Amino acid sequence: ARKVTTHRLIEMKQRGEKISMLTSYDYTIAQIVDGAGVDVILVGDSASNVMAGNVTTLPITVDQMIYHGKSVMRGVKRALVVVDMPFGSYQADPFDGVRNAIRMMKETGADALKLEGGEEVIDTIRRIIGAGMPVMGHLGLMPQSINKYGTYGVRAKGEEEAEKLIRDAHLLEEAGCFALVLEKIPAELAARVASELTIPVIGIGAGGAVDGQVLVVADMLGMTKGFSPRFLRRYADLHTVMTDAIGQYVADVKACDFPNESEQY
Ligand code: KIV
Ligand code: NA
Repeated sequence: ARKVTTHRLIEMKQRGEKISMLTSYDYTIAQIVDGAGVDVILVGDSASNVMAGNVTTLPITVDQMIYHGKSVMRGVKRALVVVDMPFGSYQADPFDGVRNAIRMMKETGADALKLEGGEEVIDTIRRIIGAGMPVMGHLGLMPQSINKYGTYGVRAKGEEEAEKLIRDAHLLEEAGCFALVLEKIPAELAARVASELTIPVIGIGAGGAVDGQVLVVADMLGMTKGFSPRFLRRYADLHTVMTDAIGQYVADVKACDFPNESEQY
């Protein structure tokens, strides 16, 4: 299958074809996600939660994101691969941001980067794009700023925050971002942003009137148990499937039922 490009995502928006996006953090899952036909794979800094067990995305490092990015790249043939720049790698100043962006692109071989924020980081985003690296924006709930918000609740419910989000979305498009993620905002606001922008808007908890959807793969497969926001549709119950399989293995070992005659040399 032909490799998905940033240009093709914009064509998909123009045609009205919705874009499917999921996270992956390792080779084995990325191979499955890519093979199933997902258009965009995000090596999210949600790896901090999902893979490392941290409470927030803040602790994950550039080196750790590079490890996840390289692992995913080895498993992908078709999907466009986007890697999240982690907290602290681009907020200090544009120079630092461009340096880290170059490292992440070079060492992972990924197709693009994603950064959280609007006006606050617009100069950095312009310079990263100027240096030849495609950038996906991310507005609404921005988990790298959780210590500023205090909660993971719905963002931009009020007029002031909504107005800023709309301004930021236009700034990101003007800066040359090829797409924008909107996380956990009212569906009506997301619909307005998607209709005003020419670049694709990918939602998570942002309703159906956007150009595509993204979910965390471990959540949509039902591997994670405690996390049940309204926007999360579970397509499988892998927690139960895996627990039952592993329980059966334990029982077989204890009962001397594994390995049997044909499972040895
Ligand atoms: O890190 C992540 O998984 C993300 C998506 C939720 C958009 O940024
Ligand atoms: Na992220």
